Amino acid sequence: MTDTVILRAEATPFAPALVLRPWCVGDAPALVEAYRDPALRHWTSSAVRNEDDAMRWLRGQQRGWAAGDRFGFAVLEAPTDTPHRQLAGNVVLKEVASGKPSAEVGYWTAVHARGRAVAPRALQALTGWAFDTFGAGGLNRLELLHQVDNPASCRVAEKSRYAFDSVLPAAPPSFPFDGHRHIRRRDTEIPAGG
Ligand SMILES: CC(C)(COP(=O)(O)OP(=O)(O)OC[C@H]1O[C@@H](n2cnc3c(N)ncnc32)[C@H](O)[C@@H]1OP(=O)(O)O)[C@@H](O)C(=O)NCCC(=O)NCCS
Repeated sequence: MTDTVILRAEATPFAPALVLRPWCVGDAPALVEAYRDPALRHWTSSAVRNEDDAMRWLRGQQRGWAAGDRFGFAVLEAPTDTPHRQLAGNVVLKEVASGKPSAEVGYWTAVHARGRAVAPRALQALTGWAFDTFGAGGLNRLELLHQVDNPASCRVAEKSRYAFDSVLPAAPPSFPFDGHRHIRRRDTEIPAGG
């Protein structure tokens, strides 16, 4: 992918518009701040305790873009009354491979931005981009996995039209409880103008 990918999600009556762009090294301080939240650390597999961890995490994102198998976006809130854009979350398309029909999505929202539909709006933008970009290469199904004891994540799936598919048995240590698999299929996409 040669050009920087910028995605957007519209404002709501209660929340500013979102801009999604690939993570960059300048995001390290905001990333460390986001990971101070115990809920974020609990529900994600990464540990970002300091700027060194953050740089490792950010380089991992850059490797994913370079390899073409993982596409992580920083989600920024873009209030109209200020040029400053604050980090609001992360959304990622992963497990992408040429000719493979499925890939996986993931997300988190920084604690200060929760409850404003940041994750569902960012996920909708990512989903459209993923099918537009990789559909011709065979991608026709996106999977979203979450633990059953994470109802907020289940709501993000529902609000983003990822239909419940099946219960996943626990797989400790990374997945200690049963989970849900939600799926969104390319053939359920509504064509533009349709
Ligand atoms: C799950 C998560 C991504 C939701 O993001 P969000 O941008 O707040 O999404 P929404 O605003 O649509 O809220 C989704 C649900 O979160 C809950 N919620 C709302 N406000 C909240 C707040 N201030 N704090 C925590 N949860 C809140 C509600 O159940 C809401 O559902 P509802 O809209 O039906 O009331 C976010 O809580 C998060 O980052 N959690 C930690 C990481 C995580 O769980 N990632 C997913 C792993 S599978």
